[in-house]
Amino acid sequence: MNLKFVLCFTSLLLSIGITTTDAARTTFTITNDRRILLGNGLGRTPQMGWNNYNHFGCNVDEKLIMETADAMVSTGLAAVGYEYVNMDDCWAELDRDSEGNLVPKAKAFPSGIKALADYVHNIGLKLGIYVDAGTVTCSKEMPGSLGHEEQDAKTFASWGIDYLKYDNCNSHGLIPQNRYPKMEIALQNSGRPIFYSICQWQNDPATWAHKVGNSWRTTDDIKDNWDSMTSGADENDIWAAYAKPGAWNDPDMLEVGNGGMTTEEYRSHFSIWALAKAPLLIGCDIRSMSNETYEILSNKEVIDINQDTLGVQGIKVRKNGDLEVWAGPLADDKVAVILWNRGNSTSQITANWTDIGLNSTTIVDARDLWAHTTQKSIKGHISATVISHACKMYVLTPQ
Ligand code: GLA
Repeated sequence: MNLKFVLCFTSLLLSIGITTTDAARTTFTITNDRRILLGNGLGRTPQMGWNNYNHFGCNVDEKLIMETADAMVSTGLAAVGYEYVNMDDCWAELDRDSEGNLVPKAKAFPSGIKALADYVHNIGLKLGIYVDAGTVTCSKEMPGSLGHEEQDAKTFASWGIDYLKYDNCNSHGLIPQNRYPKMEIALQNSGRPIFYSICQWQNDPATWAHKVGNSWRTTDDIKDNWDSMTSGADENDIWAAYAKPGAWNDPDMLEVGNGGMTTEEYRSHFSIWALAKAPLLIGCDIRSMSNETYEILSNKEVIDINQDTLGVQGIKVRKNGDLEVWAGPLADDKVAVILWNRGNSTSQITANWTDIGLNSTTIVDARDLWAHTTQKSIKGHISATVISHACKMYVLTPQ
């Protein structure tokens, strides 16, 4: 399958809508608007990194950020692509200073944010920060940037910040389409390239945010359980056509390693996020993660699907009850496929070439990305027996 083939189906898919039924979705799509209007050149592949919120909530301080950055390097996670170390809500005092500047909490950040950014940069990583497009953030512990966009973006740039997560609480009914572009312009004027992560999932942000930010949320906050993770995957899938290099759908941060799901469920979570070109933002405590957690988060073959240069979001192409096939095209005419068993009993799942955009006569080599084995010269379909809540993930390379 070549790029031309994919492109020619774009308008068809957009016109039939993207719904998931027991019938197969005919093929994948890439958006017909490949222009990046946010001119920061960032996020050509989905962002990879870590954020404190899923595991630590409001408990963020410089010690945690520095130790996490160190662990990112010492464990080898940085070497497989994780680069942003992001702090979430609650890092600032509730009151701005006399000149209206944001002030980090003195107890939590005694060295200041600039020193923290220097520390993170010195070990080869990047530092992210959080603020809100309303008057106060979601925790109500710190101010929002509404009306202070230019000033705050300049402050972030002066500290050496590389990434902004911009949330949507306490916005007093002002529509996001007015508030988010203000911060986009402020970041552009700040003098520093800053990745712009839009944290807003109401008002169908995919339809407008792909021209404003590098990513936008497609779901409410993920929880560390199977139902939340699977429903997030489905909600995110609807917006696949809007994803493109520089602008990605974001079904929220990873829960892998936080303890609420089984190893197979976490493997499915990571596989689907990778295929869907979702941000891979680790949400556990990497300073004390288990070997199993590390084995999932550091699977370079799965990460390579997420970071593939074609930048097309993989989608659910077939659903038969709880048995699903997800797939997406990759660079060099390769195809990524996931056989996902969302049911309660072990079952056989099959992906037919015609469901995943391959010509029915194509012969492929199939690389199993979790078993790290290759099946040679396969024709027509790939099948596997998959245990409950597990998945198989392959890259198919036409011969
Ligand atoms: C919202 C966001 C979360 C997190 C919290 C912080 O709920 O969606 O990801 O940033 O705010 O309060």
